[in-house]
Amino acid sequence: MKTLQEKIEAYKKEISAFTAADENEIESFRIKYLGSKGLVKSIMSEMKNVSPDNKKEAGLLLNEFKTFVEEKFASLKSATATVDTTGDGKSSSIDFSLPGDPMPVGARHPVVLMRNRIVSIFQRLGFAVAEGPEIEDDWHNFGALNLPEHHPARDMQDTFYIQQNPDWVLRTHTSNVQIREMEKASLPDRQGKLPIRMIMPGRVYRNETVSARSHCFFHQIEGLYVDENVSFADLKQTLYFFVKEMYGQDVKVRFRPSYFPFTEPSAEMDVSCFICGGSGCNICKKTGWVEILGCGMVHPNVLSNCKIDPNKYTGFAFGMGIERPAMLKYGINDIRLFSENDIRFLQQFTAAI
Ligand code: PHE
Repeated sequence: MKTLQEKIEAYKKEISAFTAADENEIESFRIKYLGSKGLVKSIMSEMKNVSPDNKKEAGLLLNEFKTFVEEKFASLKSATATVDTTGDGKSSSIDFSLPGDPMPVGARHPVVLMRNRIVSIFQRLGFAVAEGPEIEDDWHNFGALNLPEHHPARDMQDTFYIQQNPDWVLRTHTSNVQIREMEKASLPDRQGKLPIRMIMPGRVYRNETVSARSHCFFHQIEGLYVDENVSFADLKQTLYFFVKEMYGQDVKVRFRPSYFPFTEPSAEMDVSCFICGGSGCNICKKTGWVEILGCGMVHPNVLSNCKIDPNKYTGFAFGMGIERPAMLKYGINDIRLFSENDIRFLQQFTAAI
């Protein structure tokens, strides 16, 4: 009799000390103590070894032990089960009173902020956004843009070629999208899609040594307008509007003659330095002007290459980098910061350009 009581006391100690972290552990408790092969069952079966005189006392002890284990089981369950979350009558172990996990708010990348700002200005003028592939064939990156093979102007842009296929390059500018959009518009069933008025942002690649001022990849935005009677005056007015929206009403603009094989005539556009206002600083290299984009009238050969009749249609195109204006705007002095993914850098920018 003594031994049974001692055994039960020992088990009680063990059971009192039991704690469960989750429902799986509660289930193991149930199996171990209350299951069909559990401890309570097996200890009950010891009744048959008890002498008739002690049966009553032993029965009381065992029943009391069984109740003890059941109560422990119930208390384990109620400690974790709190709320009926699914409405199916079963409670879950989720504690809704705990504070939530913080969800840190991200920041937009400065290149994205600048791109969105530029795109939204042109959207107000009726330009739609178009995108194209970053891995491009020679025709769309060079050939159709009036840079035939061995043309010296190909050297203007150091190109990454793709080993697998000598016809593929990483696009050196977003002008490939010009070609793709013009080709689409000239397909027989797409005749109605002219005029084209599009703005084309994207990433471009050049085989250049990476430094604080230049990178082997960066972003451009290209604009294209093709219709009947599009003139250089339209180009100028469009860009004037852009510059005033972007840099303020007082900014001055100048066009310098330039050369691009895909435009004729071609120009580069400068704006009066928005850091020093034109008086000369180290951003504008003491000239008072900052170059922001290249532009010109789409070369008739380019229109013909895209099966658009150059006698009927004319167009203008322009292209600008995104990193440089972003660097000037935010006072960023190293282009490599844009692609290093350092959260301390990236967190600093807000949409207020
Ligand atoms: N593609 C030119 C460049 O990358 C920019 C440009 C676009 C110039 C369209 C004229 C017209 O430098």
